[in-house]
Amino acid sequence: MTQVDLSSQAAQSSNVRLGFIGAGNMARSLIGGLLKQGFDAQHIIASDPSAQCLQMVRDLGAQTAENNAALVASVDVVVLAVKPQVMADVLQPLAPLISQHQVLLVSIAAGINCASLAAWSSLSASIVRCMPNTPALLQCGATGLYANARVSSQQRDLAQSILEAVGLAIWVDSEDQLDAVTALSGSGPAYFFLLMELMQANGEQLGLSAPMARALTLQTALGAAKMALDAEVDTATLRAQVTSPNGTTEAAIKSFQSNDFSKLVEQALNAAHQRSIDLAKELG
Ligand SMILES: NC(=O)c1ccc[n+]([C@@H]2O[C@H](COP(=O)([O-])OP(=O)(O)OC[C@H]3O[C@@H](n4cnc5c(N)ncnc54)[C@H](OP(=O)(O)O)[C@@H]3O)[C@@H](O)[C@H]2O)c1
Repeated sequence: MTQVDLSSQAAQSSNVRLGFIGAGNMARSLIGGLLKQGFDAQHIIASDPSAQCLQMVRDLGAQTAENNAALVASVDVVVLAVKPQVMADVLQPLAPLISQHQVLLVSIAAGINCASLAAWSSLSASIVRCMPNTPALLQCGATGLYANARVSSQQRDLAQSILEAVGLAIWVDSEDQLDAVTALSGSGPAYFFLLMELMQANGEQLGLSAPMARALTLQTALGAAKMALDAEVDTATLRAQVTSPNGTTEAAIKSFQSNDFSKLVEQALNAAHQRSIDLAKELG
């Protein structure tokens, strides 16, 4: 296959071809993000058994392939965007083609490790394994990425630019760290939803209407995240700065602390981390 420049800037203007196996929610978010960033729609192609999903891809302006084999034969990068449970069945029939075309595999499937991906495709495959989170669907995601030893620096840049199309993309040094990413940002949106749910319910208990409590909760979450992102200090300092001695915030924080909130959070993240490890064993 012809050598192409895979670096992130060049990818937007060169003839790098990106293929998506699975054209579901995540694939379409990635495609939408890439198109917004100026990636050439002629160079994005997807395959999926669902005619409806393929139509949605064409509506975005990108291309579709008749089947997975035709797609692999015509691209430089294959983004694996199918559910983890079907990954083995998807990859195994494609193994000879993946080996022959030496495509970069970028998997966004939760819990499937590089060893399994290589065993099902090609032991010499260049593989980037990613753990995105649900806000990626709004192009506001947080993704951890891990590259196996076969991935070149140009391929790393390209994988990063694909995931950056839907938000923040951060490389981890070891594949094990993806279990920590899963426990933190992968499952993290639900932790904030739980806190928002409880704050809203208690706002109502304190006499606010449901719409008022909801609006105030969500805007507060957004404002706090923006302040933390903009701040030059860490969140502990930020919290201290907004906590006046003897004030209302201090009363609430003391109540959290006397009920060992930090222990609850530690136990929750450890539970998610362990579940991520166990799930990977079940799926591999
Ligand atoms: N959604 C998220 O927030 C999120 C977050 C982190 C990671 N992920 C990961 O991203 C991956 C995709 O998730 P998703 O939410 O986009 O799922 P999805 O909407 O269900 O998309 C998966 C697509 O793959 C298609 N598919 C099934 N078998 C196929 C085959 N043999 N060849 C080609 N396509 C096939 C499915 O078609 P059918 O429906 O007809 O089977 C479906 O359209 C998953 O592995 C998930 O773990 C998702």
